[in-house]
Amino acid sequence: MHFSSSLVGVFSLLCSQAVAIPDLKARDLNSFVTGERTIALQGALNNIGPHGSQVAGAGNFVIASPSTENPNYFYTWTRDSALTMKMIIDEFIFGNTKLQPYIEEYIHAQAILQTVSNPSGTFLPNGLGLGEPKYQPDGTRFNGAWGRPQRDGPALRAIALITYSNWLIENGQSTKARTVIWPIISNDLSYVGQYWNQTGFDLWEEVLGSSFFTIQNQHRSLVQGTQLAKDLRVTCTGCDQAPEILCFLQSFWNGKYIVSNINVNNGRTGLDGNSILGAIATFDIDAYCDSPTFQPCNNKMLSNFRYLMDSFRETYSINAGIPEGQGVAVGRYSEDVYQGGNPWYLITTAAAEYLYDAVAQWKARHNLVVDADSLPFFQDLYPSVTIRQYNSGNANSPFSQIINAVTSYADSFVAIAQKYTPANGSLAEQFNRDTGVPLSARDLTWSYAAFVTLAQRRAGQYPTTWGTRQAASPPATCSGTSTTGVYAPATAAGAPNVTSTCQVNIVFNVNATTYFGENIYVIGNTDDLGAWDINNAVPLGAGGYTSQRPLWSVSTYLNAGETASYKYVRQENCNQPYIYETLNRTLTIPTCGSAPITVEDAWVGAVGTAGSC
Ligand code: NOJ
Ligand code: NOJ
Repeated sequence: MHFSSSLVGVFSLLCSQAVAIPDLKARDLNSFVTGERTIALQGALNNIGPHGSQVAGAGNFVIASPSTENPNYFYTWTRDSALTMKMIIDEFIFGNTKLQPYIEEYIHAQAILQTVSNPSGTFLPNGLGLGEPKYQPDGTRFNGAWGRPQRDGPALRAIALITYSNWLIENGQSTKARTVIWPIISNDLSYVGQYWNQTGFDLWEEVLGSSFFTIQNQHRSLVQGTQLAKDLRVTCTGCDQAPEILCFLQSFWNGKYIVSNINVNNGRTGLDGNSILGAIATFDIDAYCDSPTFQPCNNKMLSNFRYLMDSFRETYSINAGIPEGQGVAVGRYSEDVYQGGNPWYLITTAAAEYLYDAVAQWKARHNLVVDADSLPFFQDLYPSVTIRQYNSGNANSPFSQIINAVTSYADSFVAIAQKYTPANGSLAEQFNRDTGVPLSARDLTWSYAAFVTLAQRRAGQYPTTWGTRQAASPPATCSGTSTTGVYAPATAAGAPNVTSTCQVNIVFNVNATTYFGENIYVIGNTDDLGAWDINNAVPLGAGGYTSQRPLWSVSTYLNAGETASYKYVRQENCNQPYIYETLNRTLTIPTCGSAPITVEDAWVGAVGTAGSC
């Protein structure tokens, strides 16, 4: 799995290609998509370490964005990486053979990453660490406070690796798929089968509950895993959970639209780009539109699409005056405030991709059924539509006219993306809801990956079926079952042969008087305490801070039997230098199986002073 130096040449070739194509805004839509597709693919590759031109210093990882502040996205997220790699794998299968080294490096790096202990837990014995959303750019753990766990990551990674494994099988390399890649997939599917019925954070890392996007992808991963296991003659632990997950998936529909986050009460409508991102990630060209997997051509999903677009039409001033049935700028959800709560490139292009997917499915089925749920969606585009089945016919048939209308609708979302894409084709995360100016993380890898998948669908390139027709139907009554996973390091792909890491729960309590705006961290010599790297110190919380007791606290897990040196650090409110305690403390973590211990400390060292920034 390691690369010979000749492959390095391939990387530098890919990385040095000049991609500046001026004046993208002035082009017609076809020419814009063609030009931007090239820029977007290169934009994604530029953010993949260690060779990517924008991410010097990163390991073999897909970095979310080169942006290191406001926001700092110089990390690797399991979700962003897997979605990007799925795009790269599909590009490879569609014929871009130069991309194979990126896939091979991903396999190797993810095998290692699976074994890294992190704040979500350890890899062994129970797979808990697989739910960690993000890691440092070199693949070491990230200790900061975060919305964790996020349970979509293992499913998305499995889907990407299964897609590549299927290609290997078709190309006479089943042995490699079985011995090298299956062990990675097996860990991820074990995680899905074991934890799907437990809440986690959504793809936007904000809501602790059950997320449509996550559940939909989890289901897909197990259906595809079942088939791959058969093909490779191996056992899939956890795949038996697929019908139960599909059963649960039905509960996100509220009669009008998909409530994207359930098992949570956060005051939102639930209308969220989550649902269309889920539908495009689980798109199956062979699926029937009434498949319980909620495909793009599904009537309930079309109703959802209409409600969702209306919510953004009413939210962003750049959408003012755009009538129903025409593309708008699309964001995460209308109540969003992150970085100002703006439209996102990747979700605007997802809306277009969604519609191209639906069109492709109707064409492939040679018919389209309009029901009461989808009628308003179709009426916006083709006013004379009625509730009935439309069978394919000649170019003037109602079927063809509807197909043309939906295709134009899709194109109108691409035109919105074009309008707000700068002339050099760079894609940030968001664009301003009032002015359309790009903002938040620049050169977002996921924005680029999303553009490429949109361009694939628009060009009629579809990944092969993932087996929606073969998937077992959901049971009549759902139950929250679980299958205990089997976890083992994927050593043939390069994972270290780790054994079970025994950890003990340690609570750090420190009395430290602070002013408003100041923060306290604990830092130490072990990886779980940040290895003296201040950027990776463990944050304490002030939830228990009172005028009687200035308590800062964190509950964490440290390796049994280890002796750690540590101290507390103050972070000031205006970027003044960090203030470290003036002593080194020592803590010997007790042996495996010990009860949790609480350390009671009091701050030793200088106090902070509020800056006036
Ligand atoms: C960072 C996350 O990446 C983003 O999705 C979220 O909106 C903000 N934190 C606020 O929670
Ligand atoms: C914030 C987004 O909400 C999240 O989905 C993404 O994984 C990270 N940014 C990194 O791009």
